[in-house]
Amino acid sequence: MSEESHIKLTKDAMNQAYVPYSNYPVGVLIITDKGNMYSGCNVENASYPLGNCAEASAIASMIMGGEKKIDKIYVMTKNDEGGIPCGGCRQRIREFSDPATEVIMCSPKGIKDRINLSELLPQSFGPEHL
Ligand code: THU
Repeated sequence: MSEESHIKLTKDAMNQAYVPYSNYPVGVLIITDKGNMYSGCNVENASYPLGNCAEASAIASMIMGGEKKIDKIYVMTKNDEGGIPCGGCRQRIREFSDPATEVIMCSPKGIKDRINLSELLPQSFGPEHL
């Protein structure tokens, strides 16, 4: 599948976001090491801290699919700067990645930046440290 199709699926995920409080929709598409795809969006709550980030939703879907290794992850929001994973989500991604996992930040117009997880979350803590 082309990168253009990946971006389209990420946008579809973003358009499912439930964001009545922030009006900041985020869509995520994970491509696993097996080439399978899992998507997610942010889901907010009237009790604000209970909201879920889009990355958490997509990771939950991947786990339900029986997979644990992220090869690439697209993150999109609607503004021009593109989707930037929050600190907590960098750590969530880290759990199921390796240093070369690609994080691709997008706006609806396309790719804004692509960076390896090791650059996005340097000197990170992970399962192998326990
Ligand atoms: N959000 C995500 O879904 N992922 C991120 O990495 C950054 C923040 C969501 C949480 C909340 O619903 C909205 O964006 C504004 O913070």
